[in-house]
Amino acid sequence: MLVKVERLLSADEVAHCRSVLEQTEWVDGRITAGAQSALAKNNLQVPEDAPQARALGEIILRALGRNPVFNSAAVPLRVFPPLFNRYDAGMGFGAHVDNAIRFIAGPNIRVRTDISATVFLSDPADYDGGELVIQDTYGEHCVKFAAGDMALYPASSLHRVETITRGSRWASFFWVQSMVKDDGARALLYQFDQSIIATRAALGDEHAAVLGLTAAYHNLLRKWAEV
Ligand code: NI
Repeated sequence: MLVKVERLLSADEVAHCRSVLEQTEWVDGRITAGAQSALAKNNLQVPEDAPQARALGEIILRALGRNPVFNSAAVPLRVFPPLFNRYDAGMGFGAHVDNAIRFIAGPNIRVRTDISATVFLSDPADYDGGELVIQDTYGEHCVKFAAGDMALYPASSLHRVETITRGSRWASFFWVQSMVKDDGARALLYQFDQSIIATRAALGDEHAAVLGLTAAYHNLLRKWAEV
């Protein structure tokens, strides 16, 4: 399931992220790549332990916490501390699949990467190329969202970032371990939750059908969630 989360970050938050990143050291992005993806990867990243990355990561984590679409679509258990990357002209990232397990060094926690996330920090008018291309059974999806918007997609999918031909594309990226591991089950819960929201709007919160559907949603989540 590919989900667009619009305006995860406000314009002010995007501007703040960009101003901090402008004064930050960027290093070769292969530092976080696995053996296969290192061959395909050509970009720049802020080191994981850089204080600027951690401070900006907190802003993104707070934005995730308050976002109903993210919480409905991801049913998050753990979020890997957000990282930041940048593709300048000539840079790209060939087709790869993300590592299944990520290790957070400080608290010694492993994160199973069920969902990959990209938060766009550049205006699409500021660069050419740089589309995030995600492959699934319906073919390829080309993603290039406004600054502040986020793409969520299954970490199991093959994906790539097209080579930049003009300008520079900045983004935050991270992974989510979901309480509901199976992508199909998560997609069903998301569809269910969105339909309950629509039903509440049409019938009102007091309607018996709304109560019944809400109870069924929570009982299904209770059955499937692993915490
Ligand atoms: Ni990737």
